Amino acid sequence: MTAEEFRLLRDHVYSHCGILMREDMKFVMERRLWPRLEALGMSNFSAYHRYLRYDAQRRAELEAAVEALTTHETYFFREMAQLNAFTDELLPLLQQRNASTRRLRIWSAGCSTGEEAYTIAMLLRDSRRFDGWDVEVYGTDISRRVLTTARRAEYGPSSLRTTPPEMVSRFFEPLAGNKVRVRDEVRAWVSFGHLNLLDEESYQLVPRMDVIFCRNVMIYFDLPARRRLLRIFNERLVPGGYLMLGHSENLLNLGADFELVHLRGDLAYRRPMLPSKGGG
Ligand SMILES: C[S@@+](CC[C@H](N)C(=O)[O-])C[C@H]1O[C@@H](n2cnc3c(N)ncnc32)[C@H](O)[C@@H]1O
Repeated sequence: MTAEEFRLLRDHVYSHCGILMREDMKFVMERRLWPRLEALGMSNFSAYHRYLRYDAQRRAELEAAVEALTTHETYFFREMAQLNAFTDELLPLLQQRNASTRRLRIWSAGCSTGEEAYTIAMLLRDSRRFDGWDVEVYGTDISRRVLTTARRAEYGPSSLRTTPPEMVSRFFEPLAGNKVRVRDEVRAWVSFGHLNLLDEESYQLVPRMDVIFCRNVMIYFDLPARRRLLRIFNERLVPGGYLMLGHSENLLNLGADFELVHLRGDLAYRRPMLPSKGGG
């Protein structure tokens, strides 16, 4: 891959989904996209770039390229300190706040194979606070392949590596060959959909959320893409709604319109109840 081919492909992928391949990732890109060239019978990346831009199949191929370039690492009960803070401090508050509507909407944005969305639903079930409520946990991702796995809800030991054993017996049924399936009572609260977080048209169907989890997704975006996404999240949250980021992510230098909330042992961000003065 020449430097020029790298630049063209990188810019094309970036403008589609915000994922930025840094200069030092040329070889990663080359290695991950090479199987696509082989599948299409091409011998160089210029031809592949032309295909991505002009071929009738370009949309499907762009999805395949993004598929090859994205990292889908995830597991159940990831970042337990944050989940404990969510359970112990935010759930009582949400129960109180939404008592009149008995409705709760939570979004796992960039959900990968579904472990995060199901984890949230398990915590909600486990708390018993929302029994009989209208609860929806939405998982969305740009990759259709991971969403197929999410909907199937069958997992192996690596997905369960930090799941407390009592949660495994409560919320999973055993399958053959070391696999388990998420129980129907949890699945009933979770649904999955395809959504590119940086495509503003995708948001028309997204309802207002009480909490958005977007963990380990923005790390792949550059500053302008993060700013755009945070503006969208702010807009998609109810006033007073919470944004939960991954532990290596924060809103420093982003000038975002969120309040920092100190939970015991963790941080969260909140959309202010009232618009900030000056309309910013
Ligand atoms: C590392 S996984 C994180 C999964 C989960 N949130 C967690 O923390 O365990 C990142 C996911 O973000 C998705 N992703 C990356 N860019 C995206 C975009 N522009 N729109 C939607 N999803 C995206 C990837 O497909 C991948 O499944």
